[in-house]
Amino acid sequence: MEHNNPPAAVYSDTVVTQFALMSVVWGVVGMLVGVVIAAQLAWPDLNLGIPWLSYGRLRPLHTNAVIFAFGGCALMATSFHVVQRTCQVRLFAPKLASFVFWGWQAVIVAAAISLPMGFTRGKEYAELEWPITLLIAVVWVAYAIVFFGTIGMRKVRHIYVANWFYGAFIIAVALLHIVNGMTMPATWMKSYSMYAGVQDAMVQWWYGHNAVGFFLTAGFLGMMYYYIPKQADRPVYSYRLSIVHFWALIFTYMWAGPHHLHYTALPDWTQSLGMVFSLILLAPSWGGMINGVMTLSGAWDKLRTDPILRFLIVALSFYGIATFEGPMMSIKSVNALSHYTDWGIAHVHGGALGWVGFITMGALYYLIPRMYGRTEMYSVKAIEAHFWIATIGVVLYIAAMWIAGVMQGMMWRSINTDGTLTYTFVEGVKATFPFYVVRLLGGLLYLGGMLVMAWNVWMTAITGISARAQIPPLAPAHA
Ligand code: HEM
Ligand code: HEM
Repeated sequence: MEHNNPPAAVYSDTVVTQFALMSVVWGVVGMLVGVVIAAQLAWPDLNLGIPWLSYGRLRPLHTNAVIFAFGGCALMATSFHVVQRTCQVRLFAPKLASFVFWGWQAVIVAAAISLPMGFTRGKEYAELEWPITLLIAVVWVAYAIVFFGTIGMRKVRHIYVANWFYGAFIIAVALLHIVNGMTMPATWMKSYSMYAGVQDAMVQWWYGHNAVGFFLTAGFLGMMYYYIPKQADRPVYSYRLSIVHFWALIFTYMWAGPHHLHYTALPDWTQSLGMVFSLILLAPSWGGMINGVMTLSGAWDKLRTDPILRFLIVALSFYGIATFEGPMMSIKSVNALSHYTDWGIAHVHGGALGWVGFITMGALYYLIPRMYGRTEMYSVKAIEAHFWIATIGVVLYIAAMWIAGVMQGMMWRSINTDGTLTYTFVEGVKATFPFYVVRLLGGLLYLGGMLVMAWNVWMTAITGISARAQIPPLAPAHA
């Protein structure tokens, strides 16, 4: 961890601030699109007959916006923040870091235009057509150069564990993106995968699951390992555990992808292998959760007064839930019930809203005021309100989808004594309607919390700048 930090002026924080602010902006946009598609599932007429606004085009816009724009900007902001503090140096090549920022925003804008226009590679979480896929690869390599370059210049011998997680996330995402992105261009905005049939499916879900493992998990564990000890003012519970669960996690994730393809044309042994590795994955996942939660030992009382810490610790609880539920859903007989149902959507959003969303919000609430020369956000009460609104939102969302999912699975498999189906498909859809409305309500609350955050960030920024303007210029940087 950092000791006797040099003054903030010696760090390259412009890019950190830019990414942090854009994470909040894209969070609002991505969640708004989530709310729109949630409403469309309840009332399909909201497609309005306009192709640009149809569910099939807005859904990938939602997933790309929340994962790569909201989550991606937060990961880049925090990794650049953490790596400088823990290595005690400025960013390596700040101009390249600025290219990473603008390049990533260009990717996001290209996605926001091309997805509603209907351009897609048809691979979930890898929809963007080949010119954008190429741009992502270039920006990502630049990101890797800045991050690892900074580690290379470090003034402390030790590489703090948060950097291990960020580093694994950066390397793995490069590998996944390049292998799954292999494509034969046919025209400027149309390409075909280099792989065929079941191999294509296997590569896609090796990518898909590791996108969960490295984009939605490893990077955010990096966040956890810096911001929880900082906010709690306690050392990490067990440094040894952090190293053990790091290696176990990254090794195991790579093999779990086939659980997305149970009962498909994929060879049966591959599916079983995916299931076994998914079950093993429970241990390293919970290792991380326990390490984060136990960092609070001796300081539990802080949870009563500190809403930022509450965001961070509740995030870990949802991480624990999602990583218990995931291995259960990977068991073939359980998956026979859960697959294709809203249970999957409950699992996804337990992880996405509860874990990814909450840990990001907690980390940004720590980081953003410090970028404006303050120690606290403009309004701590607003953080408190955000926490409760968002918590009620997540609970409504996932409870509705759990019930709907199990109900759908049960209805689809129910058969009469003569072997015919008890329910037609549309009866299942009709029975799901009320749960879709409750999910929409949960989504609206979650989005509402995000809007409170956006206001608080705005106020912090403008009052921070004016406070800063009154401070005499800092002494020249000494690093
Ligand atoms: C206001 C908050 C949100 C709402 C209302 C919302 C709503 C939705 C809806 C309606 C779907 C489509 C479900 C279906 O196909 O049946 C969806 C899918 C998805 N959302 Fe969200 N979402 C929200 C936030 C987020 C966040 C913050 C993330 C990630 C960090 C996320 C990640 C995803 C993913 C990965 C899927 C695809 C799931 C799958 O294919 O199994 N969502 N969301
Ligand atoms: C030990 C850890 C985990 C395991 C073993 C696991 C396992 C699974 C399984 C079995 C499915 C359902 C596949 C299907 O029936 O199609 C699934 C879907 C999914 N999980 Fe997890 N999960 C884990 C943790 C997480 C976490 C922490 C998140 C994070 C945010 C997450 C995000 C997702 C997403 C986005 C999908 C939907 C993929 C799709 O079909 O589009 N998972 N997971």
